[in-house]
Amino acid sequence: SDEVGRDELAGDSRGERRSSKVAIVGAGAVGSTLAYACLLRGAAREVVLFDRNRDKVEAEAMDIAHGIQFTPMGSVRGSDDVAICADADVVVITAGAKQKPGQSRLDLAGATIDIMRDLLPRLVAVAPDAVYVMVANPVDVATYAGLKISGLPQNQFFGSGTVLDTSRLRYLVARACGVAVQSVHAYMAGEHGDSELPLWSSAMIGAVPLLQWGPTRDGRMLDEEVRAAIAAEVVGSAYKIIAGKGATNYAVGLAVVRIIEAVLRDEHRVLSVSSLLEDYLEISDVCMSVPSVVGRDGVGRRLVPVVTESERHGLRRSAEEIRAVARQFGF
Ligand code: LAC
Repeated sequence: SDEVGRDELAGDSRGERRSSKVAIVGAGAVGSTLAYACLLRGAAREVVLFDRNRDKVEAEAMDIAHGIQFTPMGSVRGSDDVAICADADVVVITAGAKQKPGQSRLDLAGATIDIMRDLLPRLVAVAPDAVYVMVANPVDVATYAGLKISGLPQNQFFGSGTVLDTSRLRYLVARACGVAVQSVHAYMAGEHGDSELPLWSSAMIGAVPLLQWGPTRDGRMLDEEVRAAIAAEVVGSAYKIIAGKGATNYAVGLAVVRIIEAVLRDEHRVLSVSSLLEDYLEISDVCMSVPSVVGRDGVGRRLVPVVTESERHGLRRSAEEIRAVARQFGF
């Protein structure tokens, strides 16, 4: 069967029920990188790209499809017709305003909300049972607005939130401490943006609380000053990358594939996704990121780690930042 092209086998040519379908809305840098990462990791049997720019979306899909001989079983298609998203298991929304150098994510709210007012009703009409993952920024405001516009239950519509920031934090801590990034269990929480904060007091490196780790590779203690520098580097990452190359796409693509896999494989994996919080440490009626269980039904239990008073204050402040912008646009 190696002689037969993957796409001939991957589709429904043998009439078997397709195993999983991911629809990616937006074929820009993030959306097309996400489609590529999905195929590379074999995250879904069928990946479709939807964008209003027909030439662009067809070209991105074709460029990926030409390489699927080298990936796990899968297929990829692109179209400017929303019908291509029909019956998707997961719909990922990357279409939104693009952050310009020096611009904050919250500045993009109006443009992204306008796009969603147009897109969401059409998407829900063809994929009413999908789990929706918002990626477009400002992702927390967009997730809250998307929940209201779509009318979907709060478990079925959430945002990528600080999953990417958590990955940045773990990378920097792992590098400082000389351990594998997979052994760093720490979360960025709150806004995917300037007011996010690391939950240091619950962080672990292997079986050791991070705050008791001891000297880093350069001999310095992982003290408040070193931790503050790491947190600042996480918050500043996107600005630095956007200034250098115009956009971020690789790490956010990998972060969102991780979310997709947790949904499609019903992993019940703890990820810092952005979802509607109700009475979470006295925070309600806002979408923001806390460690949460993600599986087939979308977002479930929001975990409440032990937090210091300062972390509790930081979470509350982040919620207020997000809510203030959402209110400006009538949500
Ligand atoms: C970033 C974009 C995805 O943080 O907001 O890279």
